[in-house]
Amino acid sequence: MSSPATSTPAKGLEGVVAANTRLSDVQGDLGKLVYCGYDIDELAGKVTFEEVVHLLHHNHLPNSKELRELKDQLAAARELPVGVVQILKTLPKNAPPMHAIRTAISALGCFDPSSDDDSMDAQRQKAIRLIARIPIVTAYFHRAREGKALLDPDHSLGEAANFLYLLQGKKPSVEEEKTMDLCYVLHADHGMNASTFSARVTIATLSDMYSAITTAIGTLKGPLHGGANEGVIKMLQEIGSLDRVDAYVEECLQQKKKIMGIGHRVYKTLDPRAPHLKRMAQILSAKLGEPKWIQMSDRIAEIMLQRKNLHANVDFYSATVYYSLGIPIDLFTPVFAIARTAGWTANVLEQLADNRLIRPQSVYTGPTGLKVVPISKR
Ligand SMILES: CC(C)(COP(=O)(O)OP(=O)(O)OC[C@H]1O[C@@H](n2cnc3c(N)ncnc32)[C@H](O)[C@@H]1OP(=O)(O)O)[C@@H](O)C(=O)NCCC(=O)NCCS
Repeated sequence: MSSPATSTPAKGLEGVVAANTRLSDVQGDLGKLVYCGYDIDELAGKVTFEEVVHLLHHNHLPNSKELRELKDQLAAARELPVGVVQILKTLPKNAPPMHAIRTAISALGCFDPSSDDDSMDAQRQKAIRLIARIPIVTAYFHRAREGKALLDPDHSLGEAANFLYLLQGKKPSVEEEKTMDLCYVLHADHGMNASTFSARVTIATLSDMYSAITTAIGTLKGPLHGGANEGVIKMLQEIGSLDRVDAYVEECLQQKKKIMGIGHRVYKTLDPRAPHLKRMAQILSAKLGEPKWIQMSDRIAEIMLQRKNLHANVDFYSATVYYSLGIPIDLFTPVFAIARTAGWTANVLEQLADNRLIRPQSVYTGPTGLKVVPISKR
């Protein structure tokens, strides 16, 4: 019999180690992020999202043949079952996209005859299908709610370019494709974050890949996790201009309101993804002739560092990048989900390879020894 829990862990499980992993390492004190031995600064700009998918799924960067095979597999897996397309068309047009995507990913499990096939080969194929299909689900839901035609995936395009094409109805420029691809690379995995943890908890019961990713999407949605990027742009819009930033931040601090995109549970210094996104945001804002978003962001970050010693996180500048790419605001978090499906599926495979049910305990703090009073007397 296991021993009972004797002490309450830190609130929010801060500092609790829940798994060994070879996938990614978040070094909070140093402000470093490592994927399978490669520093994110080493990977950013040198490898594509597909190479990172291979890295996370096979623990090494692909050679040309392996990359070609992976790209072919992803392209071949893009087509959605007709039933899922129907569901996407039937959902209310005003449904928040994260609800729609969570529903469609869950539905994909109903249409996959191998949903409950637990062989590692089948699990790997389901992982590829999910990575290939979550961008299609996102783009199709958006097009359907706008009453626009759903385009066929373009097999000559990589993951980032194909998503932008299906979403916007035109092939992206090389620069747009590279920007999106880099965003995917930076968001692909991030240690034991809340959504990854929830995916691992689900698969550790020997449930199935679709259930695990559906769980993760539901967890990512929250404004304290992936939903923060949407909150950032809404905040910038609410502030409206650079001269109003100081007063806005001051008021939030007075009222103890959180500034979206600032702070992190693990990074106690700069989030290493933020400078890459900031650089992209600067370039895109200058091109669009709309420098005010980046100027406002910089000022917010400056004040929060001075006043609270809190740094900008991944969501802070990604919001401006997505906005500049013309991505609708309520699709910012879905874009995060698209990229993170690489990491979620890799974590699910890793959990399955050495599984044990994840079942922590709680410290009971309620009353004891109560006697039932008959209902007529309560
Ligand atoms: C990420 C986050 C949830 C981490 O939470 P956490 O580890 O539980 O940290 P706490 O919420 O306990 O914050 C610690 C302190 O910093 C303050 N703080 C943290 N993030 C803040 C923010 N974004 N704006 C204002 N104050 C913030 C808290 O109010 C608290 O201050 P106090 O000690 O004076 O009460 C939190 O920083 C946050 O809510 N950030 C905004 C949402 C966001 O950007 N999420 C995406 C993360 S990648």
